[in-house]
Amino acid sequence: MRILLVASEVAPLAKTGGLADVSAALADHLARRGHDVRLVMPLYRRMAERPFTDVPGLERVRVELGSNEYVFGVKRTPLPGGGVDAWCIDCPGLYDRDGIYTGDDDEHRRFALLNRGALALCEQSGWAPDVAHCNDWHVGLLPLYLKLMRTWSRLFTNTRSVLTIHNIGYQGAFGAHCIQDLGLDDAAHLLHQEDLANDRISFLKTGLLYADVLTTVSRTYAREIQTEEYAMGLSDMLRARSDHLVGIVNGVDYGAWSPETDTLIPHNFSAETLDDKRLNTRALLENMGLSYDRRAPVFGIVSRLTFQKGFELLFEPLPELLAHRDARLVVLGSGEPKYEEFFESLQQRFPDKAVFYNGYSNELAHLIEAGADLFLMPSRYEPCGLNQMYSLRYGTVPIVRKTGGLADTVELFDRSRGTGTGIVFEHFDADAMRRALLYSLDLFHDEAAWRRLMLNGMAQDFSWERQSGIYEELYHRLVAH
Ligand code: ADP
Ligand code: GLC
Repeated sequence: MRILLVASEVAPLAKTGGLADVSAALADHLARRGHDVRLVMPLYRRMAERPFTDVPGLERVRVELGSNEYVFGVKRTPLPGGGVDAWCIDCPGLYDRDGIYTGDDDEHRRFALLNRGALALCEQSGWAPDVAHCNDWHVGLLPLYLKLMRTWSRLFTNTRSVLTIHNIGYQGAFGAHCIQDLGLDDAAHLLHQEDLANDRISFLKTGLLYADVLTTVSRTYAREIQTEEYAMGLSDMLRARSDHLVGIVNGVDYGAWSPETDTLIPHNFSAETLDDKRLNTRALLENMGLSYDRRAPVFGIVSRLTFQKGFELLFEPLPELLAHRDARLVVLGSGEPKYEEFFESLQQRFPDKAVFYNGYSNELAHLIEAGADLFLMPSRYEPCGLNQMYSLRYGTVPIVRKTGGLADTVELFDRSRGTGTGIVFEHFDADAMRRALLYSLDLFHDEAAWRRLMLNGMAQDFSWERQSGIYEELYHRLVAH
């Protein structure tokens, strides 16, 4: 099949979160399965140092959107997996900026060009995709552009579209005055009418209306987003399309995230050499300026610090724990001030026990996965989540709230039977969090149980080999249909 995959983030070229990991790994695995995959993204400033080659015939692609004309070149750069290149839209006027996402006035135009440009480059090279797989709001307009282009281009007659919702919390809503810039003036009757009446246009909603199939990144999240509690205002639309909504849990790129082969950690280890994990714990703590004590469990966090991630659940229990128990805490992340301030205050109050690295570091993310004993993800909502799956592979026990992909990938440890892979709590409240933390300490000090728990997690397999096969089947069904 010819598969066009379009995303705003692709690891390691441009990443703020899991979307980047997923788009890169899925494209790579689909290519390995023998498909002809074009993975399209913008060429952001941060990628300037990469090796690029021009794509013959695509040095100058022209797109008109409203009264704006864009002319861009397509440049390819290889991804580490070796299976696929990223095809990057080189339009410096829109993408040569500091951030991947910006608050600039033309944000709608930046991503409209990603949608329309991806189709234009197919057209110019006469490459007819069987499937156009769009990711998140940034690519929400593509299914509608596809529909409109079919009226004058035969190339897309058989192209089917898939829209994957990685996070319903970001919908790409703009003022209705942007419609002209999106080239949708004449198609206003096809947009969400209630939004228009409220002077708005939403990229994601447009995608929900026109994609042939909707997917999201876990089965539980597929259910949750049909409820008001989780849908951020889109439950009606999603319920209306529930026959075309499937949950497919993300995979893990074990090429990058395996303790046996990880090149970013000081000491490789496996289930057979589990005791070597401690060497990473020691290295992690020393790097961060904390002392190592075998009896003190190390809690790790690697996260965007946003509302979604539920860190207010830690506001009371975590200082209590650090005050009364011998434990360590290593936090890597950045985001909203109230969470940054909280972790900064812990570091100040417990300088021997807690450390907060405010920023982004892939190396440190790997070292935390390898060195921590426990990994905290008390998410308010979590479409899939990758870090809990990485943690499992590194023998780092995840403490998660039972929501979205966390519910689908971590099973509560049953001490008497020795089954389960983590510590799971249900209710979004500080007491449930506190109990989970205390239970984790209790388990940590029960050496036999703890070892069982670590080994159970390490034996889990969430590989993309399997998950990419599920996408493949979905595409086949769609194309046959
Ligand atoms: P989300 O996509 O909601 O941020 P995921 O768990 O799916 O959550 O993926 C997060 C990804 O981003 C993981 O690969 C994680 O290691 C990485 N990550 C998040 N914050 C940082 C950070 N500050 N430094 C390095 N990597 C980070
Ligand atoms: C989103 C979600 C996260 C998911 C990731 C990749 O950003 O917040 O749960 O794992 O996308 O699908």
